[in-house]
Amino acid sequence: MTVPDIPTDNAFQDHGDGTRHLRRPGESFISWQGRRLTNTRTFASLDQESENSQMKRVLTAKDLSAMGIGAIIGTGIFVLTGIVANEKAGPAVVISFIIASIVAGLAALSYAEMACLVPIAGSAYTYTYATCGELMAWIIGWDLILEYLVGAATVSVGFAHYLEAFFEDAFGYHGEKRLMEAPFSYKDDVFELTGSWFSIPSFVIVLLLTIILCRGVKSSARVNNVLVVIKVLVIFVFIFGACKFVKKENFDPFIPPNAGAFGQFGGSGILRGATIVFFAFIGFDAISTAAQEARNPQRDLPIGIGFSLIFCTVLYLATSVVMLGVVNYTVIAGKGISDAPFKVVASATGQRWLAIFCEVGILAGLISVMLVLLLGQPRIFFAMAIDGLFPQFASKLHPKYKTPVVTTALSGFLVATAGGLLPVSLLADLTSVGTLFAFFLVHSSVLILRWREPHRERRFKVPLGPVLPVIGALSCIGLIAVDSVSAIIRLIIWLAIGLVVYFFYGMRNSRLNNPENQHAQVEVKGGEQQLYRLDPAQNEHKV
Ligand code: ALA
Repeated sequence: MTVPDIPTDNAFQDHGDGTRHLRRPGESFISWQGRRLTNTRTFASLDQESENSQMKRVLTAKDLSAMGIGAIIGTGIFVLTGIVANEKAGPAVVISFIIASIVAGLAALSYAEMACLVPIAGSAYTYTYATCGELMAWIIGWDLILEYLVGAATVSVGFAHYLEAFFEDAFGYHGEKRLMEAPFSYKDDVFELTGSWFSIPSFVIVLLLTIILCRGVKSSARVNNVLVVIKVLVIFVFIFGACKFVKKENFDPFIPPNAGAFGQFGGSGILRGATIVFFAFIGFDAISTAAQEARNPQRDLPIGIGFSLIFCTVLYLATSVVMLGVVNYTVIAGKGISDAPFKVVASATGQRWLAIFCEVGILAGLISVMLVLLLGQPRIFFAMAIDGLFPQFASKLHPKYKTPVVTTALSGFLVATAGGLLPVSLLADLTSVGTLFAFFLVHSSVLILRWREPHRERRFKVPLGPVLPVIGALSCIGLIAVDSVSAIIRLIIWLAIGLVVYFFYGMRNSRLNNPENQHAQVEVKGGEQQLYRLDPAQNEHKV
């Protein structure tokens, strides 16, 4: 195969001594590094990668929609609704949900446009690589770890608590607390020992899901479809079972007056609440990480993203109205994550069966969230490994199942360990801030690509020209800005660690910027070597 040479500004220069570099003869160090850090993947290489993909194209629009719903409905609605109503917004948590849904909806539109333009694994990471260049792509890839890995770990801790609650309610069995909870907690920037050792349920559930994910994306999608049906059914039963207990007086006051500090009720409480319940909408974007496994990504990804988000938004609004109508916001939170609001509300109706039924549905719901988040991260590590920004062992596909088995196992192990050891509160907020930052970059990528590649076919385009992506980007920044200072500082520290890793590893090994890495190959089947990501814009070699 001969790959044509398409000269670009960033083509490697032959230095006459047998070596080739990005640096032009006589170019200053600063200019060279600037071009290097902003060097983008070309569409020719992305198209080629999509064509060469060895992943199985098995996912339908229905699977993708179920994946979206699977990832979206979870800890956010089952746990955070009560906490936000109780501490930040009162019954006006419903408005927080509406604000968060608008921010998520705008992001969904931009994701849908990008997923059509760049239908390969890697999601926002790949979009950014094609638009803003390598450094930003790295930052976003690193940032997405917060969304997928930290998010999955957060949910795994919630799972352990609900399992505990379920055994108590259903069988009167009180488990060994030391083996059910993390060894320390984190509140108001203070760590405290809990007396526990390790959360075995969190660890075990993540490892089981990892095994399912290694065995194939289609079997994972089947498991997810079943779980999604269960949890949606439970939410419907909850809404219809509890709505007759709604009391008008619980909505009075609808917006409790501000208690003196920013974020404590009043308008600022609604806004702070929106950043927290934003967690409830995270996950629809995980669909786009499976773009290479979708049968018809350009049609089905926008359908999956749009349908799942609209469906969940309607369910959330109905659920939160019923919850706040049945139980007054002052008593809805119970005591932290284990005394979750669904349980409080279901118990308040006096129907024990409803509480147990809800707990089963919540467990199913949380499993499906973890499943989809755990599906997303390995595909991002995989894409980064193919680009040379992550070690090459991560680019292996399983010979039979065609799944990124190494990155799936690695992600599963990290999440299981974090879920067993780390306190939820430390990380949950970080997930939201990290995701908002990722969404901001996706909006930016849409705008940059509209300008750089105006004629490229878009089977889905965000309406109203640049207006909605601009509003979307500003809304993400707005929600980050109203979050707590400590959450923002944690995000900055995480990104700073990522930059150190990039400068010591990614930058030196990047395939795009290092000619000696251009021919790196990936073993795919029975010893046959398949060339990936050979960038025609930068390479005229015969292979
Ligand atoms: N949206 C997911 C949840 O609420 C992450 O658990």
